[in-house]
Amino acid sequence: MSKENLVCLCKKISEETIVNAIKNGDTTVDEVNKTTKATSGLCRGIRCKKKVKALINEYK
Ligand code: FES
Repeated sequence: MSKENLVCLCKKISEETIVNAIKNGDTTVDEVNKTTKATSGLCRGIRCKKKVKALINEYK
C-alpha cells in the first residue's frame, strides 16, 4: 500500500477502506470511525478528520 493512499496515518487506514465504508452506508465521521478505526489514532483525528469529512461529502 502506497503512503499517499493512506488517509489516517496513525491507524494506517487507506482511502479505499474509508470510501468502502461510506459506500456501505456510513455518513458521519463517527460512523466511519466505528467501521474503520480511522480518527481514533494517537493524533485523535487532527491529521485525518478533515480528509474523512471530505470523502464523506464526495461519496455519500
Ligand atoms: S491520522 Fe488518523 S488518527 Fe491520526
